[in-house]
Amino acid sequence: MNRPWLDPQLPEPERIQLLLGTMTLREKVGQMHQIANVTSTSQDEELRAGGIGSSLFASGAWAGNQQDAGVRVEGLNAVQRIAVEESPLGIPLIFARDVIHGFRTVFPIPLGQAAAWDPESVGRAAEIAALEAAAAGLHWTFTPMLDIARDPRWGRIAEGSGEDPHLGSILATAAVRGYQGDDLRDEGRIAACAKHYIGYGAAEGGRDYNSTQIGPRTLRDVYLPPFAAAVRAGVATVMASFNEIDGIPVTGSHELIRDLLKGELGFDGFVVSDWGAVGELIAHGFAADAAEAVRKSVEAGIDMDMVSGLYDRHLAAEVEAGRVDAALVDDAVRRILRIKFRLGLFERPYTDPGGGGRIGAIPARRGPGIGTMPFPGRDRVSRPTNVQQTPPAGMTQSISIPESHRARARRLATRSLVLLKNTDSVLPLRTPKRILLTGAFARARTELFGTWTLDGQESDVTTIEEALRAALPAEVKLETKLFPDEAVVYGRYADAIIACIGEHPIRSGEANSTGTIDLPPGQLEALKGLRAYGVPLIVVVFAGRPLALPWLADHADAILYAWHPGVEGAGAVVDVLLGNESPSGRLPVSFPRRTGQIPIYYNHRPTGRPVEGGLRGGNRYCDGPDTPLYPFGFGLGYTTFEYSDLRLSSASMRTDGEIEIRATLRNSGAVAGEEVAQLYVRDLAASVSRPVKELKGFARIALAPGESGEVTFRLLATDLAFSRLDGSVGVEPGGFRCWIGPDATRGIEGGFDVPG
Ligand code: GLC
Repeated sequence: MNRPWLDPQLPEPERIQLLLGTMTLREKVGQMHQIANVTSTSQDEELRAGGIGSSLFASGAWAGNQQDAGVRVEGLNAVQRIAVEESPLGIPLIFARDVIHGFRTVFPIPLGQAAAWDPESVGRAAEIAALEAAAAGLHWTFTPMLDIARDPRWGRIAEGSGEDPHLGSILATAAVRGYQGDDLRDEGRIAACAKHYIGYGAAEGGRDYNSTQIGPRTLRDVYLPPFAAAVRAGVATVMASFNEIDGIPVTGSHELIRDLLKGELGFDGFVVSDWGAVGELIAHGFAADAAEAVRKSVEAGIDMDMVSGLYDRHLAAEVEAGRVDAALVDDAVRRILRIKFRLGLFERPYTDPGGGGRIGAIPARRGPGIGTMPFPGRDRVSRPTNVQQTPPAGMTQSISIPESHRARARRLATRSLVLLKNTDSVLPLRTPKRILLTGAFARARTELFGTWTLDGQESDVTTIEEALRAALPAEVKLETKLFPDEAVVYGRYADAIIACIGEHPIRSGEANSTGTIDLPPGQLEALKGLRAYGVPLIVVVFAGRPLALPWLADHADAILYAWHPGVEGAGAVVDVLLGNESPSGRLPVSFPRRTGQIPIYYNHRPTGRPVEGGLRGGNRYCDGPDTPLYPFGFGLGYTTFEYSDLRLSSASMRTDGEIEIRATLRNSGAVAGEEVAQLYVRDLAASVSRPVKELKGFARIALAPGESGEVTFRLLATDLAFSRLDGSVGVEPGGFRCWIGPDATRGIEGGFDVPG
């Protein structure tokens, strides 16, 4: 059969149209149908009929906490060969997997990455993840997750960048660019997926999948910006979210997907539903049956149906009956083909098992097995799934992680660590003679990976105990006692106690929301026992969310928040504890004192009775503090920084202008360190009530002891734009305040205005 669309010299739109014009309705629907864990034997008939457009590889709808046996290049090639060489049109499949924070090289969970306030490192992590995933035969990852989250009860706060739209937008751009590069055809690049569009993190009660109530201005000014940034960065795909907003499931929302995302934002990739979400429109009570769910999803702009199978079963009939406009199907297929062409899948649909990237034909030689695969080999017995080929007998160890990848994981893990307390500079530890190490994470391995780790390997991970032993001088006695009662006995005679505690990854991620953010049962009691003898108590907290730590804040000598720091996490933690590295992480999310304060976030509106107003009562509790235990942007280092001399290039800014805002920082401590200087702005009065502060810039600055430096921020009028009362988006004349400081509660203040 003549296949003119295969001519790579033709312009992309022409290639798409040539192919689309030859497709039957059945073949078009096939492109819109994604299944899970395809194999060359289980769906070969559907593949030959061109009835499948994509497969994801995951062990379940909430795969985030279920490790599977990984993907096999040969297995993927075998599937692709049927689609390309035995179906009428030979359209390649696009293979996807949740490579959320690393493939074989596991980086910190995304919330931990956000704590690094380091877009360059986040981008490099995405680049390495793409390289490793592409080598394993994958084309598409379901990340970055861009859900703004203000509720730490929600388990998926672990997967995003926290509570702030500006930080979230900067990191969204870095991640998309990291995964996709300049050209998806390039070696080691895969399609990214901005998810979950939109408002998923506003789930009532912090309960996953729950209803959300988001006003139009909050939707546009808080939840939308990271997605808009991802679209500007050229993200290839977007995943629609499970939730409904004020009764309209996003998966069925024409206004949010077709009008806002595809229309107003100009997104030209394709939208995939989340797992089974097309069918869930019935459970939402938004569709009476499967056919209506299909109609509403297609009309809303869902281009690809993730594993519900309803497009496959009902869409063609709905089109033939005239209940779905065939043009909508063409638009969906056009978008899907566009990404497949951009990935170069029509020229190079296969992957070289020897690590040579995407290729045009399956190599004659069989790889000698696991050893040929650059990364995903597995060196532990794992549950077979239907995509795993049984490794040949006598398998060698899989290839280890390249040192350059480890180095990047170490750097990002180190920068993700947030020092929350350091009484009397008890850290870094100085020549202790006897250390007691305790807590569930002292010997943890895969638990350091965190949720949504499908391809990390236990054998790659060093424990805290191992890293500490390796880093300490031989004469230092290190005792590890995991039983709390035994730890108390040994702790009495130690110079320092290091307690590695927190929550197991199973408590965060998808479908793992908690009704409290207190430490898991038993840990506080154990810590209180350790406190009994007054030995310096250093607590390292591992978690996928902010936890309420009021007792620690009052009684621990030091608190280092490590999130779930990934494959190099133990080494990063030990480097900071021993002073080989200085902590420089900053909180990407507010830490409540107690669960009852949730939601609590820094960029809140002032209300008519602001707490700061000092009015008795006001919007405050009568049974405890109203402020967070640790604010957004907060983090300590091993040195101190002084801010001075805030200067603005002008006292006023035109509505189409810009001003520069700068300040001087001085390292007023005794050791070198890095500060994350933050720029906040407040719009004092406008056609709608505006937040008390909004992050508009940040800059990392490294200074030697006594050294001074300057940070300069360029603030554009467009940075002050918001959703106005009349529905337009723009800046309004009026007065503004600005701060440059170390977190959302402190800084040196200035002001400017925007003349009418
Ligand atoms: C899940 C998640 C989504 C993930 C998808 C594929 O239900 O909501 O984030 O990418 O299914 O595993």
